[in-house]
Amino acid sequence: MLLKLENVTKRFGGLVAVNKLDLEVEEGEALGIVGPNGSGKTTLYNLISGVYIPDEGKIIFEGKDITNLPPHKRAPLGLARTFQIPRPFGSASVRENVAIGAMFGRAHAGVDEALEMADEYLKIVGIYELRNKEAKLLTPLEKKLMELARALAMKPKLLLLDELLAGMNPKDIDKIIDLIKRVKEEENIAVVSMVEHLMHAITKFAERVVVMHQGRKLLEGPTIEVLNHPEVIEVYLGGRVV
Ligand SMILES: Nc1ncnc2c1ncn2[C@@H]1O[C@H](COP(=O)(O)OP(=O)(O)OP(=O)(O)O)[C@@H](O)[C@H]1O
Ligand SMILES: [Mg+2]
Repeated sequence: MLLKLENVTKRFGGLVAVNKLDLEVEEGEALGIVGPNGSGKTTLYNLISGVYIPDEGKIIFEGKDITNLPPHKRAPLGLARTFQIPRPFGSASVRENVAIGAMFGRAHAGVDEALEMADEYLKIVGIYELRNKEAKLLTPLEKKLMELARALAMKPKLLLLDELLAGMNPKDIDKIIDLIKRVKEEENIAVVSMVEHLMHAITKFAERVVVMHQGRKLLEGPTIEVLNHPEVIEVYLGGRVV
């Protein structure tokens, strides 16, 4: 097991955002997280990446207890995430932004190697020709691709995608899912993605889906089975998937 959450709880004052949650992620798997607004998805991501420390419970990564580690100590172990709103170093170049991922992730690259890795991943995500541009000049889509390249250059074992596909057109979504699947297979990366409201993307990307509801796991299982579960259809999705 790559990642294991045991009985994890996070409260904000009186509100229980994540409630006694158990979750397991296998090495190399593609897991989709769905759930209505306020169900605790982002909080779950923040707990896994170390932005929040749980009030209760344990987080185990590759057998190591990381419950109390800050984010910068989790990244070198092989945990990477993209942000819903990318926050690049604006005046640095695209290439430098991606190289930072290679230096501070599991790759532990030196500067020269990191710049070479940046080129490699910029080619993979398809924005190599923009490498010398200032990051702040990129379009929103290009920023997301740069963010993906930066996360991949960290050489993660677990990649958390925070609504990477939101706001993209269907053609770009298909292209990006294909490229994530390819890299995931080649490098054996487990990918956890929040892809609510994009049914096509979930069915195409995820092998397994977890449905969150009020901080708890409502359902989990193979993607099509879960998305076609009557409760999920009725309450969250408003229609059959396939
Ligand atoms: N920093 C915070 N302080 C106080 N309450 C918070 C904080 N972060 C989240 N919450 C609350 O915790 C609950 C879960 O929020 P969370 O953002 O994890 O849900 P979500 O599933 O990501 O929702 P959405 O689909 O709207 O992004 C919500 O009721 C939210 O208002
Ligand atoms: Mg959220």
